[in-house]
Amino acid sequence: MKSEVSETPYAGARLPLHVAVIMDGNGRWAKKRMLNRVKGHEKGADAVRMMIRTCREIGIRHLTLYAFSTENWQRPKTEVKALMELLKRFLASEKQEMIDNHIRINVIGELDRLPEDLVVSIKKAMDETADKNAMQLNLALSYGGRSEIAMACAEIARKVKNGEADIHAITPEYFERHLYTADIPDPDLLIRTGGEYRISNFLLWQIAYSELFITSTLWPDFSRKEFMEILSDYNRRERRFGRVDD
Ligand code: FPP
Repeated sequence: MKSEVSETPYAGARLPLHVAVIMDGNGRWAKKRMLNRVKGHEKGADAVRMMIRTCREIGIRHLTLYAFSTENWQRPKTEVKALMELLKRFLASEKQEMIDNHIRINVIGELDRLPEDLVVSIKKAMDETADKNAMQLNLALSYGGRSEIAMACAEIARKVKNGEADIHAITPEYFERHLYTADIPDPDLLIRTGGEYRISNFLLWQIAYSELFITSTLWPDFSRKEFMEILSDYNRRERRFGRVDD
């Protein structure tokens, strides 16, 4: 039996439709090298590029990256500013490649809290890629799972109050149509780098049955090889969704 994991999934491999990633460890990566934390985020952007290219190449339809949480606003102002600028630069430098590769760019989170110039770049990137359908990149920016759920509740309550919705029709299927991820399938696989065993307010509703994979690798060091190993592990897992085996 082959022990090495191949560079591409073998024919017949069961690929996740949707991979979500908590990209943790940029700060520690920088600290280990006596660098400023921002250098870790910059290096992390290279791993983001690798993930987008790899997912597109092997045929993963949805990639969702946790790039900035609602809690991250509490970081030092200089780090927040540098992250926002990095995101803007990333969109500018990567957009054409994504257009060429038919990748749709989508952002989930509180867009109205982001700097105006970043919002302009995001909206432009979303518009210009709206008709692309080989893969969807969902960037979670100023995203928090609890806020998302509270927002959905508020919207449904408003509809009930206005007589647009019937309280008895509030099912899980109805509810999730009010989340940012309304048109996105739930993640099949959630990867967290940086070795912490937490969800950190990411996609709380959507990950109910996701397979979890936590690696101690710091995000800037996350490689295509390790991603392939995780996919190979995923392929061996049996997903029962709460049912029993036949
Ligand atoms: C967590 O690491 C990471 C972040 C808060 C930001 C993630 C941003 C990137 C990967 C770079 C840019 C992203 C895109 C989409 C271009 P941390 O700083 O909490 O690390 P630590 O736990 O080691 O301190």
